[in-house]
Amino acid sequence: MSRCDTAAAESDKGDMRQQIAAETATAIRRNIPLHDTMELLDFGAGTGLLTYRILPHVRSLTAVDTSAKMLEVLQRKSTPGQRIETACRDITKMPLNRKFDGIISSMAMHHVEDTAAFLAALYEHLRPGGFIALADLDKEDGSFHTRGNEGVFHFGFDRDTLRETAKAAGFSQIGFDTVLTIRKSHGDFPVFLMTACA
Ligand SMILES: C[S@@+](CC[C@H](N)C(=O)[O-])C[C@H]1O[C@@H](n2cnc3c(N)ncnc32)[C@H](O)[C@@H]1O
Repeated sequence: MSRCDTAAAESDKGDMRQQIAAETATAIRRNIPLHDTMELLDFGAGTGLLTYRILPHVRSLTAVDTSAKMLEVLQRKSTPGQRIETACRDITKMPLNRKFDGIISSMAMHHVEDTAAFLAALYEHLRPGGFIALADLDKEDGSFHTRGNEGVFHFGFDRDTLRETAKAAGFSQIGFDTVLTIRKSHGDFPVFLMTACA
């Protein structure tokens, strides 16, 4: 069982997770004109903290995660009539056979080792003109995850490097917004939202 599987039951209890998801949803809505015709994918959706905040503003959401336990918790929150699907798989290795109007994600990109392959896979899941809106940590010193760094491949991201990686994957109109700064006793950790178009 992965660390994320084990964490699923506790995942919604942290104020910090709720705050990041809430402020990421606000930043996505500030930067992207969402519409009730849109079909979106939430990459690394976890228990759906971001998914359910964006769902009322779009037509449907497909929540993708490699942890079955996380998706079980997410599915338990759904109510009849909500247009939400789940896919338990790593779409960077096993693509879904469909395309979306946009891909959102919060705090999942640092768990994917090959960022270039990740962004290329997201590009392949988008309709022409589709968007990405990905929130993650700015470059940090490895002290953000106070329970250890198992499964963490990146200690945040340098925005300029990420911009170049996104450009190489085919994205245009790449922009960054600061979502919030997480203040811990040992330091401050800004979270960015990168938006771009396919
Ligand atoms: C820190 S949690 C964030 C969950 C959620 N987005 C939130 O904001 O609460 C990271 C999530 O990414 C998932 N994850 C890690 N690697 C993944 C991959 N390659 N494909 C899909 N999901 C992945 C983990 O299982 C976990 O649920």
